Amino acid sequence: MPIYSERVMDHFTNPRNVGEIENPDGVGEEGNPVCGDMMTFYIKVKDNRLEDVKFKTFGCGAAIAVSSMVSEMAKGKTLEEAMKITPQTVADELEGLPKNKLHCSNLGAQALQKAIQDYRSKPKKGDNNGD
Ligand code: FES
Repeated sequence: MPIYSERVMDHFTNPRNVGEIENPDGVGEEGNPVCGDMMTFYIKVKDNRLEDVKFKTFGCGAAIAVSSMVSEMAKGKTLEEAMKITPQTVADELEGLPKNKLHCSNLGAQALQKAIQDYRSKPKKGDNNGD
């Protein structure tokens, strides 16, 4: 029986930023090969910053807590700063995850990075040099 930190329990029972963003600037989806769970991140970008971040998780409690934490860590950050969020930094912020649940922390950071890559791969309005 895994023992969860208080922070994990807090984000699991009261997850922040759950949902979908209408007309998102980027979407990233990641599946967990270990358990088959899925996570999707939606981002809104303004002046190179993550103005809004939302997620949907079809996963376990740890995955919900991880995505909630990732969304909080990412909001307001520049894209470069947000790309530095890793499964390890997320697990640290959550005051650790049980060993057999560490794989769950991969989903959040990877789905967010995919959303940023999705945003970066799209042509921008008024920008014809491809960034
Ligand atoms: Fe699937 Fe945790 S068991 S993400």
